[in-house]
Amino acid sequence: MRSVTAENITETFLGYFGKDTDPRVKEIMASLAHHLHGFIKDTKLTHDEWRESLELLKWTGEITTPERNEFVLLSDVLGVSSLVDMINSNPAATSSSVLGPFHVSDAPAMPLGADFKRHYEGEVILVEGYIKDTEGNVIPGATVDIWQTAPNGLYSSQDDEQDINSFHGVFTADENGYYCFTTVRPVSYTVPSDDPVGKILDATGRHPWRPSHLHYIVSAEGYRALVTEVFPDDDPYLDQDTVFGVREDLVISYQPQAAGTFPKEGFELSGKVNDAYSKIDFDAILIKK
Ligand code: BEZ
Ligand code: FE
Repeated sequence: MRSVTAENITETFLGYFGKDTDPRVKEIMASLAHHLHGFIKDTKLTHDEWRESLELLKWTGEITTPERNEFVLLSDVLGVSSLVDMINSNPAATSSSVLGPFHVSDAPAMPLGADFKRHYEGEVILVEGYIKDTEGNVIPGATVDIWQTAPNGLYSSQDDEQDINSFHGVFTADENGYYCFTTVRPVSYTVPSDDPVGKILDATGRHPWRPSHLHYIVSAEGYRALVTEVFPDDDPYLDQDTVFGVREDLVISYQPQAAGTFPKEGFELSGKVNDAYSKIDFDAILIKK
């Protein structure tokens, strides 16, 4: 008999795999065991620390609901979600970025040029751009699903004052791949931190802030859906996003525009167009499936 020791436990673990184990499962589990066992040895993890880590995971599971997946938030603040995005990205396409927990499925369809902000007050912005493929051809009829916080920094599902579809909407790009809408400038906000994630942020002296952003899911027949975000270049949290979502190609300047320069012909726009406003140009480049 060969007894298990701290030196041979990883190798022993690998030896327990059945011979028909799927090769990819084997590769992932072997690497996980290698890093996890190595991490325990490197840090000389104590029983108390191990117990506390398991309690944290148990708490994460206990507060997870269909509306709020605390494991996703944990993955986000640990940089795991962003790392998975980055290693799977294609440099010819627009970078992807974190989905976050506040997307609403079945958000209302909105006509091009619609006013996303409804009755909310704030700095009016016009958002416009084209949906293209990696060769620069426009993609007519692409679906552009957008969401953002209200000016109080809350998403609709966090705020009893908003209906669930507030600041959520789905646009269909026209035959030129063009989309546009008006809204209010999104604000920087904090991720939920009354929870296991907050405990980790506190313990490591981290703040819970994210730079302001607009969320996008862009999809079109025959293309990989793009989940991404667009950030203004003057946000103070741009280089310290607590979920590591900022990529260079997703940072856009808000360009000041003179009063009366929108709507364009053919687009109905219910925003406050008589005043000066700012404009963001954001083109999304999708990859063929
Ligand atoms: C968000 O941008 O909505 C978000 C992303 C990750 C964690 C929490 C919120
Ligand atoms: Fe967000």
